Amino acid sequence: MPMLPARARILLLLAGLQLVLLALLSREGSRRRVTYFLGIFTRGGGGAGAREALPRGRHHNASRPGDVYANLSVLLRPPGRPTEQLPYCPKTSPYLSGPLRVTFPPGLMLQDIVQRNPLVQPGGQYQPPDCDPRHRTAVIIPHRGREQHLKLLLYHLHPFLQRQQLRYGIYIVHQAANYTFNRAKLLNVGFREAMKDEDWDCLFFHDVDLIPEDDRNLYTCDAFPKHVAIAMDKFGYKLPYKSYFGGVSALSPEHYMRMNGFPNNYWGWGGEDDDIAIRVALSGMLISRPSMQLGRYRMIKHGHDKGNEQNPRRFNLLAKTRRTWRQDGMNTLEYTLLTKKRQPLYTNLTVDIGTDRGPRTRS
Ligand SMILES: *[C@@H]1O[C@H](CO)[C@@H](O)[C@H](O)[C@H]1NC(C)=O
Ligand SMILES: *[C@@H]1O[C@H](CO)[C@@H](O)[C@H](O)[C@H]1NC(C)=O
Ligand SMILES: *[C@@H]1O[C@H](CO)[C@@H](O)[C@H](O)[C@H]1NC(C)=O
Ligand SMILES: *[C@@H]1O[C@H](CO)[C@@H](O)[C@H](O)[C@H]1NC(C)=O
Repeated sequence: MPMLPARARILLLLAGLQLVLLALLSREGSRRRVTYFLGIFTRGGGGAGAREALPRGRHHNASRPGDVYANLSVLLRPPGRPTEQLPYCPKTSPYLSGPLRVTFPPGLMLQDIVQRNPLVQPGGQYQPPDCDPRHRTAVIIPHRGREQHLKLLLYHLHPFLQRQQLRYGIYIVHQAANYTFNRAKLLNVGFREAMKDEDWDCLFFHDVDLIPEDDRNLYTCDAFPKHVAIAMDKFGYKLPYKSYFGGVSALSPEHYMRMNGFPNNYWGWGGEDDDIAIRVALSGMLISRPSMQLGRYRMIKHGHDKGNEQNPRRFNLLAKTRRTWRQDGMNTLEYTLLTKKRQPLYTNLTVDIGTDRGPRTRS
């Protein structure tokens, strides 16, 4: 379609994808699932995971967003009693403030972030000092050559998660060498390695360039896999298409294993997030979403990454997901963990995930 402007082409493409997905879903023969998806279509984001509460007596003002570091020093109060006697954290954290301002301090250094988050332990792990957390969340970030974005994300994410009174850990999964990027396979690796560390009850699969804009967007899991980044500034704070599952998503270990994890065979940009959405449906689950007000993200601008060119095979692969999801995923995952380093603000998992021509790079 050489005559069409780029925008129209993208729209056509997305419409086509939706049709494929709907066809797949209806072939699965589950009216309920289709109805649910249609429900998402018309409502523009389900309300399944929406929790909009602020602590009592607090009101947010959307036109006056807060600073993610505001009042964080309250959290630093030394614990008044031995840690083994801490009460459960309240159901709603008293430190939530609602909409947050996303700022990028000039000249920011990793060391500044370390200083502003004194309770973060090596490996980017945290535990509320004054209560026993109700949730344990690992954030998995696929990464290569985006140190600047990583820094900005860490700057926002650490205080953001502390406001929610979570036990959490941040893992970056670094794809070694410069073979074509494979986001979904890196996420599979992150899942397996994080679960070796600790019995996390929720995993957030997080792109490095997305900054959450409201701390009531809780980094906890729902009854179904949750698509979280539903309102990005780059798409005008709307879903780009209704079955979109990209950016940030949250699955419990049970969800993850039930759908055999993510596909290992999407090399390059695109397609893998749609594959994941199809896997959710094929394994008999629904998609949950926070409300449009809470699932807001700011995308840090960047050019197209080298080594992450569009994957020309993605439509072929997508058409086959229904047949392949049980044979490709966590049960066939192969990689070599090269190093695992506990940095002050994150755990760096560096892995050789091979190439699309073979299981590993051996030369
Ligand atoms: C919200 O903030 C704006 C701008 O600071 C202010 O004009 C407005 O009165 C505030 N609204 C409420 C409900 O506090
Ligand atoms: C910080 O604390 C003050 C006083 O309790 C409160 O009015 C304000 O809303 C808090 N700010 C944020 C961002 O939580
Ligand atoms: C990266 O790619 C270049 C070619 O573009 C190649 O010469 C080089 O050896 C590669 N480096 C690594 C570490 O694989
Ligand atoms: C992670 O570790 C690898 C291997 O040592 C290194 O090349 C890479 O720069 C590290 N990445 C980050 C973000 O620390």
